[in-house]
Amino acid sequence: MNATQPALAAPPGLGEERQALLRQLVDGLEPAQLYWIAAYAAQQASQPAARPAAASVTRLTVLYGSQTGNARRVAERFAAEAEAAGLPVRLVRAGAYATRELASERYLAVVVSTQGEGEPPDDARGFVEFLASRRAPKLPNLHYTVLGLGDSSYPQFNAMGRAVDARLAELGAHRLAPLAEADVDIEPVAVPWTEGALARVRDRFAHDVPVASVTPLRVAATRPQFHRDRPFPAPVLANQRIVSRHAGRDVRHVELSLEGSGLRYAPGDALGVWHRNPASLVEALLAALALDGDALVTLGGKAQPLREWLARDRELTRLSRPLVQAVAERASSTALRATLEDSGAMKALLADHQPIDLLRAHPADWDAAALVAALRPLTPRLYSIASSPGAVGEEVHLTVAVVDYHAHGEPHLGAASRWIADVGEDATLDVFIEPNERFRLPADGNRDVIMIGPGTGVAPFRAFVQERQQAGAAGRNWLVFGNRHAADDFLYQLEWQQALKDGALHRLDVAFSRDQAEKRYVQHVLRERGAELYDWLAGGAHLYVCGDAAQMARDVHAALAEIVATYGGKTPEAAQALLSEWLQDGRYARDVY
Ligand SMILES: Cc1cc2nc3c(=O)[nH]c(=O)nc-3n(C[C@H](O)[C@H](O)[C@H](O)COP(=O)(O)OP(=O)(O)OC[C@H]3O[C@@H](n4cnc5c(N)ncnc54)[C@H](O)[C@@H]3O)c2cc1C
Ligand SMILES: Cc1cc2nc3c(=O)[nH]c(=O)nc-3n(C[C@H](O)[C@H](O)[C@H](O)COP(=O)(O)O)c2cc1C
Repeated sequence: MNATQPALAAPPGLGEERQALLRQLVDGLEPAQLYWIAAYAAQQASQPAARPAAASVTRLTVLYGSQTGNARRVAERFAAEAEAAGLPVRLVRAGAYATRELASERYLAVVVSTQGEGEPPDDARGFVEFLASRRAPKLPNLHYTVLGLGDSSYPQFNAMGRAVDARLAELGAHRLAPLAEADVDIEPVAVPWTEGALARVRDRFAHDVPVASVTPLRVAATRPQFHRDRPFPAPVLANQRIVSRHAGRDVRHVELSLEGSGLRYAPGDALGVWHRNPASLVEALLAALALDGDALVTLGGKAQPLREWLARDRELTRLSRPLVQAVAERASSTALRATLEDSGAMKALLADHQPIDLLRAHPADWDAAALVAALRPLTPRLYSIASSPGAVGEEVHLTVAVVDYHAHGEPHLGAASRWIADVGEDATLDVFIEPNERFRLPADGNRDVIMIGPGTGVAPFRAFVQERQQAGAAGRNWLVFGNRHAADDFLYQLEWQQALKDGALHRLDVAFSRDQAEKRYVQHVLRERGAELYDWLAGGAHLYVCGDAAQMARDVHAALAEIVATYGGKTPEAAQALLSEWLQDGRYARDVY
């Protein structure tokens, strides 16, 4: 579409919700994909008899609400197993679910994570709000099951799983299986839930529909050759420090080759990286617990020396509640037991202790097998992709801040960022693509975009600007960046200046927090530019926020709400409601961590 093309008028009956869904669906798609969708729709239109009946539909809907992909992965597997069992199934992202359909569902499996402080993933916000509202229908014909994904280190453990499960019951729906709640180690809960819930669905289905008579729907596209469980060893093409030597923290620009992997990504996606724990930390832990690194440990059918378990299969840098519990028991520590009961004390403990700090502070008699069982499995780390395939071909670029700090009298490292910082240009990194369908450029290149990305939060916006330049998008691009000092950590400064010159970037605003007496952050810039920002938003601009979840995303959200209220003449409640609406329909998207 170009600037002179008029907007298409929607036909009667195609409501706002459907139009929003449609816009969301086509956002960021390639022309070939858009043509395919147009052809598919035309084919559907020519076969009215093939449309599903509006009445109750006897099929299993698997709905997921996910921020970083865990719930999506479990839901995909659930749907694939249901399909393999001959059940008619469809898999739906919560953000793409037409809530109107809930009233006609018969079988529903929900996998949802909890974010923020007991909040839904952005994608599931609309579904959760609808469910909680008075508009939610009574559901006497619905059979359902919920799996909540969370982290028991947070005070509001699994708040969303619990809320969805309770509300569905309140609306009269029947539990097929009890609510399952997965902690950081997801599989031990997700696997039995999947098996149990599927067995119940099959039983119920046998009453409703003879299984053999239904034609299974295709749920999963063919899996790429390389994925999370089979990562691609990507050759490192470049690994450069992009901050001055005075900067408080090392930040790396990393370029990897995906040639021959078949891996494809779109701006907005993240790259998953599997790392090994620092060898120095493995040895320190073995020494602290007086354990033999060569001792063979067998767990879950895998046998290898303890040193190998610690280096590549167990989390050594992230503390979690189950480990605190295990240490409290093994060390018979009443102090730790008391901490476990006190959410404030737990928060403080988790904030600045790594497992080794805890194990040192509470000595106990550990054997190799007990230690491996107590530590949680290692998880790959995600990094926002900082390149557009259109600009870099079969490469992928990252912007990585290296975690490195002092605590309890010892240096502490971030496991993955250290691993990446140390990887040589002749080595490889084990990677996979983690898609993020919610964090996409508008399909309509004429739309303006506002990108707020302090620190490494700027990474996906490098990809966005590259992509818009490649596509010749006519919409304007506004970047708001922040860091500590302009002279030390203005990430990609030269590239932004070039982009301004080339007309690929139309506005750049910066906030360097420590370059003046008063602290200045991106939210201050937003307030200063409030009138203009509202102007862009009123003209249909899309809004993106990436970076720190704990403080920045919240402060930016508050500033945006203020701006919408002040310049849009709305009450604070109406401004919040409008932002929520934009979050739901994808016009306001966040990628925060
Ligand atoms: C969708 C997504 C996108 C992301 N994109 C990026 C990106 O583009 N660039 C990027 O750099 N990161 C990004 N991250 C974060 C990244 O995934 C890792 O979390 C980060 O690199 C730290 O991992 P690590 O293994 O190095 O540290 P870990 O080993 O996980 O951290 C060690 C521990 O130290 C603690 N800790 C860290 N700093 C301190 C401190 N100063 N004082 C006390 N304790 C501390 C942490 O709480 C943690 O418990 C992203 C995360 C997500 C979910
Ligand atoms: C910023 C942030 C906030 C979180 N807040 C909570 C929380 O309040 N309660 C909880 O149980 N889990 C919380 N979690 C943990 C996630 O629910 C957990 O990591 C889950 O596996 C993520 O699944 P997803 O990738 O599908 O979003 C939080 C995680 C992050 C990154």
